[in-house]
Amino acid sequence: MYDVIRKKRDGGELSENEIGFFVRGYTRGEIPDYQASALLMAAYLKGLSFAETDALTREIIRSGTTLDLSGIEGIKADKHSTGGVGDGVSLAVAPIVAACGVKVAMMSGRGLGHTGGTLDKLEAIEGYDCYLSEKKFREVIASVGCSIIGQTDALAPADKKLYALRDVTATVDKKELIAASILGKKLAEGIDCLVLDVKVGSGAFMKTEEEARALASLMVRIAKEHGKKVTALLTDMDVPLGNAAGNSLEVIEAVECLQGRAPEDYTLLATELSARMLFLSGKGALDECRLMCEKAVESGAAFRKFRDMVAAHGGNTEWIDDVSLFPSAKYSRIVRAERDGYISRIDTEAYGTAGVLLGAGRRKKEDAVDPAAGIRILKKTGDEVRAGDGIAVLFASEEGLFDEAEKTLSASLEYSDVQPEKRGLILDVVESVSYTHLRAHETGAYL
Ligand code: URA
Repeated sequence: MYDVIRKKRDGGELSENEIGFFVRGYTRGEIPDYQASALLMAAYLKGLSFAETDALTREIIRSGTTLDLSGIEGIKADKHSTGGVGDGVSLAVAPIVAACGVKVAMMSGRGLGHTGGTLDKLEAIEGYDCYLSEKKFREVIASVGCSIIGQTDALAPADKKLYALRDVTATVDKKELIAASILGKKLAEGIDCLVLDVKVGSGAFMKTEEEARALASLMVRIAKEHGKKVTALLTDMDVPLGNAAGNSLEVIEAVECLQGRAPEDYTLLATELSARMLFLSGKGALDECRLMCEKAVESGAAFRKFRDMVAAHGGNTEWIDDVSLFPSAKYSRIVRAERDGYISRIDTEAYGTAGVLLGAGRRKKEDAVDPAAGIRILKKTGDEVRAGDGIAVLFASEEGLFDEAEKTLSASLEYSDVQPEKRGLILDVVESVSYTHLRAHETGAYL
């Protein structure tokens, strides 16, 4: 291990054998954390070549079992976000796609740092079981059309250990490590198609479009090497998505989306991601797929799929039919504008951090999340405000949690006297174009 660390420290390229030796040894507990940390930091500082990143991905996949979904008829698709604030669209995307006839096998994670996690959101629904057996997962996908579960311990265990170590050694935000981590899990899932939502901006791991595009291209290239159909969208995370950040609040927003009542940005992203999944699955031209998604919402079919999925996971569907049944937080506080003008910038990561401070996320891995805690967003970048107008409402179960969260959120806002230009939501599309059912004119970016 000493030689492997030294080679990477000096900028050398590790062989497949060396990467395999490291991943296997670390997963089995034969390589100590201090040596693994040193190698991760060397990789962070020197970077990994494509061959090294691909080898790391393969070793992460090999570290556990892979799911066999071949017994389920039809194409199986999934979607993954690199992480953001208020980004609960997976909850709407899975049932929309299932309602259009493509099976969705989704394995999701918990909140990481300032970013929210789909599992924490689903667990805000009374009774929802995120840990179905593989057999039950397959049954729900086959019967309902979609299922969202947590990653099983058997799948990509190397990533679990490596991610926990990266989290405490400041080695998370490196594109090669992120790509291997995400794809190591996603490619072990037995899916045919994957749509990646690569978040860009102050609330994302990738702060610039250039970094995000490089991550997207890398993930698309690796997934293609593994024979998967894949598209990556670069989407804006300089402002929180939708109007809610917090677990129950985001389930409610997803239900609103499935009932055609969600904020415009949320609906646009949910529709686009869903349409891209249908498109990769060969359901038609992109515009036809977008239309199918809209119809699935209008007809109520997507909402019914969500309800069926919740029921199949043991969740209380009365809460889905009547979202006022979600327990609300005991306390709330309005954060107000400091001056007249326009909101010119939001540090969206600070919104995520404020959510964590309110109890919607975890400070330490073992912490429990408060499903009712979170932020309702009233104003966003570009909106005009008068001093004293409400910008956001904070929700928490203890009044003592508000001061720090309010300070964090207020400090993240900048004001100007002129209206700033709003950035588009979907910034770019990176895709692999070698599939026979794609016609050349259909592969262009949707901007
Ligand atoms: N999400 C992951 O699963 N892994 C990373 O490294 C970053 C985000």
